Amino acid sequence: MSNYYGGITGYGKAVPERVVTNEELASKIDTSDQWITERTGIKQRRVVGDHEQCSQLATDSARKAMERAGVSADEIDLIIVATSSPDFLTPPVSSMVQHNLGAKCGAFTMVVGCTGFVSALITADLYMKTGQYRNIIVVGVEVITRMVDWEDRNTCVLFGDGAASVVVSRKKEPCGVLSHMMGSDGSGAELLILPSGGTKVPPSHESLDSGQNYLKMNGREVFKFATKVMGQSIEKVLEDSGLSKDDIDLYIPHQANARIIEFAIKTADLPADRVYINVHKYGNTSAASIPIALCEAFDEGRVKMGDKMVFVAFGAGLTWAACTLQLPE
Ligand code: UT7
Repeated sequence: MSNYYGGITGYGKAVPERVVTNEELASKIDTSDQWITERTGIKQRRVVGDHEQCSQLATDSARKAMERAGVSADEIDLIIVATSSPDFLTPPVSSMVQHNLGAKCGAFTMVVGCTGFVSALITADLYMKTGQYRNIIVVGVEVITRMVDWEDRNTCVLFGDGAASVVVSRKKEPCGVLSHMMGSDGSGAELLILPSGGTKVPPSHESLDSGQNYLKMNGREVFKFATKVMGQSIEKVLEDSGLSKDDIDLYIPHQANARIIEFAIKTADLPADRVYINVHKYGNTSAASIPIALCEAFDEGRVKMGDKMVFVAFGAGLTWAACTLQLPE
């Protein structure tokens, strides 16, 4: 490995205009603001309109991140888009983003459920350590509400749409990902699945009639899995980095459910005032949740350059990933 590092130098988010509150959902299906708030902490979510697409939200957020980093399209050497809800199964949405940005570089999409952004950031960091890349754009984006059955209260109240990007730039001073871990357990594939639309169950009248084109989730089992891996993953990356819990300025967990985050705070004994939560505003935006939270943490002054952070995510697969990282000075 050469002595290069990848530091986050820009960030930007793009979320749909439309806000859907718990009250609005409760006026349409058998749920209530009280149930959603008590069980998840969610108060509202953003939902795309017909004019908003995955590629466009990703592009808008990337443009903002580039502007903040002071990086032009010809200075980008790679684009990694983490999403499970691209415009099309093929072509990859990452190439659509590359074209929209006017970049002349490689691009690929990573499909790792809600773990996507952390996996993509770890990947970008490893590319950076080769010293061959000047700037890499990492995007987390989802238009997951188009995969949801709006009559299924088990899922539709949980999810929201959005995008956020970071620019990771080549640095000579130590920064970037300090330690990381990734996990996968495909035995839990059925716990969070979109049964139709891939090649195993291609769309058909039959699959549509039986609702196989909608996201299915075993909430209780995913909850159990999430609470198990969150604390363990945080402990592991802290240990590998040699940092203590108090060395970390901000923890950003995947924003799926405030109760899962509170559980992780308890089991891993984290300082609650340094754990970022914004699930009440956006619901679960899957691969976009951690970068959206990062953007808001920057804007609110909860993090600043030079700070040390922990990201931890879990989701479909089942998958999980975590990293410690340091922002460049
Ligand atoms: O990004 C990773 C993906 N997903 C997650 O992280 C989700 C993980 N799981 C969860 O967050 C929670 O399991 C949920 C929020 C999905 C559900 O909370 P829960 O406390 O585990 O509730 P439950 O599934 O055990 O359901 C309790 C009751 C059920 O009624 P009965 O069977 O006790 O009569 C449900 O039918 O709540 C009912 N219920 C609802 N009631 C009102 C389920 N959804 C709703 C709803 N409104 N939206």
